[in-house]
Amino acid sequence: MTLILCHSAKGGVGTTFLAAQLAIRFAQAGRQVTAIDGSGQDSLKLHFGILPTQFAPNWSKSHTMPLVMSNVSLIDAHLDIREEYFLNSLRRGDLAREKGAIIIVDINSADRNLFRDLYDLADLHICPISPDPAALVSLSQLGGDQRTTELEKTVYVFNMQDDRHKLSRHSYRFVKELFDTRLVGTVRRDQAVFEALAMFEPLTKIAPNSVALSDLDELAQSILNMSELSDMPNFPDSDTSPSDPQAVNPSGSRVAS
Ligand SMILES: Nc1ncnc2c1ncn2[C@@H]1O[C@H](COP(=O)(O)OP(=O)(O)OP(=O)(O)O)[C@@H](O)[C@H]1O
Ligand SMILES: [Mg+2]
Repeated sequence: MTLILCHSAKGGVGTTFLAAQLAIRFAQAGRQVTAIDGSGQDSLKLHFGILPTQFAPNWSKSHTMPLVMSNVSLIDAHLDIREEYFLNSLRRGDLAREKGAIIIVDINSADRNLFRDLYDLADLHICPISPDPAALVSLSQLGGDQRTTELEKTVYVFNMQDDRHKLSRHSYRFVKELFDTRLVGTVRRDQAVFEALAMFEPLTKIAPNSVALSDLDELAQSILNMSELSDMPNFPDSDTSPSDPQAVNPSGSRVAS
């Protein structure tokens, strides 16, 4: 089982969006995927086309009343996620029994304590960054006492990229220089993301040709190519050798560039 945290020190950068979209793509790649809303905002479900009036079950009810959308099991765990019984259940892998199973947790930007509590348990942390000076400044807060560049399980995604704007181009260059191979992907800004949410429909249905969707496909593949995640017997890239010129990130994970 692989536990992935999605969290940024800054709100509104696309953490929930990426958590949902990656969960959908991991499921499409054949993984057993559980997406956990640990944010208390109840917005993860919206990216699956679920109405605000429909509710994902909490952890205790998820076995008897599962909510599966796009082959992803959705759980609202914001009330359980700090409790020892829930953490033990994560440790035991109760929510993800199949080989190669993935649990992806959406954590609110303001909830640094939860993020730090779960970091030790996690295999990977995905931190979205947007081309916004406040988001860039907030990076220094991510690791608490630890320097952000030394967070070994953390990889970064440049979201809401828009190369028509100088700030976006410069922000990307800054982030690339800072994190190098730990910057595992970019997702372009696309108005269709807002429109899909407004219509309570999945992005794939509202805008199948969205540029964000093709970026997300590439991003999901890059993340699945990391050695920690490519443990499925039939996973297409699991036999690629570590000397593959497609890059090795500083923690030794393989990352397709
Ligand atoms: N690449 C993108 N293009 C266009 N809109 C996007 C993109 N990524 C995210 N958004 C939109 O931006 C808004 C903020 O995204 P999201 O809710 O995922 O942020 P967040 O980081 O989870 O915020 P919070 O910390 O408050 O939970 C949402 O309406 C989302 O759909
Ligand atoms: Mg969010």
